[in-house]
Amino acid sequence: MATAVVYFSRAGQNYIAGEIQDLKEGNTYVAARKIALHLHSLFFELKPVDPYPVDYHECTERAQRELERQDRPALADDLDISGIDTVVLCYPCWFDTFPRAVATFLELHSFAGKTIIPVCTHEGSGMGHSESELKKMCPKSEIKRGLAIRGSQCHECDAAIAKYFD
Ligand SMILES: Cc1cc2nc3c(=O)[nH]c(=O)nc-3n(C[C@H](O)[C@H](O)[C@H](O)COP(=O)(O)O)c2cc1C
Repeated sequence: MATAVVYFSRAGQNYIAGEIQDLKEGNTYVAARKIALHLHSLFFELKPVDPYPVDYHECTERAQRELERQDRPALADDLDISGIDTVVLCYPCWFDTFPRAVATFLELHSFAGKTIIPVCTHEGSGMGHSESELKKMCPKSEIKRGLAIRGSQCHECDAAIAKYFD
């Protein structure tokens, strides 16, 4: 059986340490790539069919609307998880939990009997309540204690990854 690093991330405008920056690569992508290299594992992106706006405010408006309505944005590709027993699920903290595109993925599959390791990048909220939402959505999975990484530190998170995974 295998491990897969599955991630959602968004490049574009974001608030980093209190100011708007234009990120060419999303923070979560940067951290998830390091984790996949560290674990020599599969690496899979949860890519929405309708990409999120580059503009920060437009993105937060859409994200909030999706959360209120409990939308499940369609994903462009899917991953066959039948041969996978551990999913390292990487996502940004959006309004204290994971983006709804991650919820789409969780509902597409049964994770019963599998292990999920949540990794959340954030700007202050840590894991938020994403772990408890994950437990509710995947009650038959083993949900490990999550790893929270501050978004602005994703480029320098190698030591934190080694400490957590080794
Ligand atoms: C729509 C939206 C909502 C966010 N909500 C939170 C939040 O509730 N708490 C927090 O600490 N950071 C929040 N952030 C900041 C992101 O979690 C953080 O910048 C993350 O590292 C972004 O990862 P990404 O570049 O992979 O998308 C939010 C960012 C966006 C765009």
